Amino acid sequence: MSLVGDTPAFLYGTAWKEERTTALAETAIEQGFRGIDTANQRKHYFEVAVGKAISNQIEKGTVSRDDLFIQTKFTHRDGQDHRLPYDADAAVSKQVQQSFAKSLEHLQTDRIDSFILHGPSQGVGLAAQDWEAWFAMEEVHEQGAVGVLGVSNFSAEQLETLLTKAEVRPSFVQNRCLAEVEWDWQVRRICKENDIIYQGFSLLTANRKVWASGRVAAIGKLHEITPAQVIFCLALELDMLPLTGTSDAEHMRDTLACSRGVLKPEEVQQLKTIAVRQSR
Ligand SMILES: NC(=O)c1ccc[n+]([C@@H]2O[C@H](COP(=O)([O-])OP(=O)(O)OC[C@H]3O[C@@H](n4cnc5c(N)ncnc54)[C@H](OP(=O)(O)O)[C@@H]3O)[C@@H](O)[C@H]2O)c1
Repeated sequence: MSLVGDTPAFLYGTAWKEERTTALAETAIEQGFRGIDTANQRKHYFEVAVGKAISNQIEKGTVSRDDLFIQTKFTHRDGQDHRLPYDADAAVSKQVQQSFAKSLEHLQTDRIDSFILHGPSQGVGLAAQDWEAWFAMEEVHEQGAVGVLGVSNFSAEQLETLLTKAEVRPSFVQNRCLAEVEWDWQVRRICKENDIIYQGFSLLTANRKVWASGRVAAIGKLHEITPAQVIFCLALELDMLPLTGTSDAEHMRDTLACSRGVLKPEEVQQLKTIAVRQSR
């Protein structure tokens, strides 16, 4: 399962789970998640433990490797702690190769469906090391062990800059999705124009006021879904591939039960700008 067209409707995010990573990723697979998001960044993720969950579930027969969509990331030195997955003194291009090789080992697989640049090294524009990382990722892609490439934490301007020179087009952008900027509409627009799938994270936690709002509760009540489900249903309507890192099996089921077509078009229109109005 390496084509974008085959990506699941949701990704299960494995950040911040530490010693619970294996158990929670296994629960997520058992509950029906087929997309797993991780990173070779020990500071926030435990990739080895994700690999253990995947191999346990394959061994149990819940899934086969082909049923799963596995995504991991290359993280620059500045985003890492002392537990580096590469040689600190190596060139960035070499670090990408080393990080990727370690990810294959950690995840106990011979291929990664999606390989993401975790973030640019500066707030505005792309630095030489970002280009070096991206071109090294393109090489990894050419070697055949990666389905598609993507980026994360990119602004609209950075994404447009990347698109001017990328030989392998990014298939994904994974961003923190803020309702107050119309759910990251500028980046979503560029994604739409370039056949890129927008992956939204922190849909709930970055938008607590919206999540707790009376309007969201009322829409949820009307459709007999929770406020969290209203937000995930909206994300699907906006063509997103949403991430969730819930630790609760019931919340996992709630999320997977979300689909397009639940919200009425006028509700989608209202929810699109709800926080833009709230923040005025
Ligand atoms: N690329 C990046 O830089 C980056 C940064 C941040 C995150 N991510 C990715 O995105 C994933 C998700 O992270 P996130 O920031 O979106 O936060 P999250 O880990 O999904 O946390 C969501 C919070 O919302 C609650 N929640 C989730 N589903 C719910 C539901 N259906 N009903 C009620 N409460 C619910 C969770 O509590 P319960 O556990 O009780 O459900 C949790 O407190 C991460 O694991 C990671 O893979 C990537």
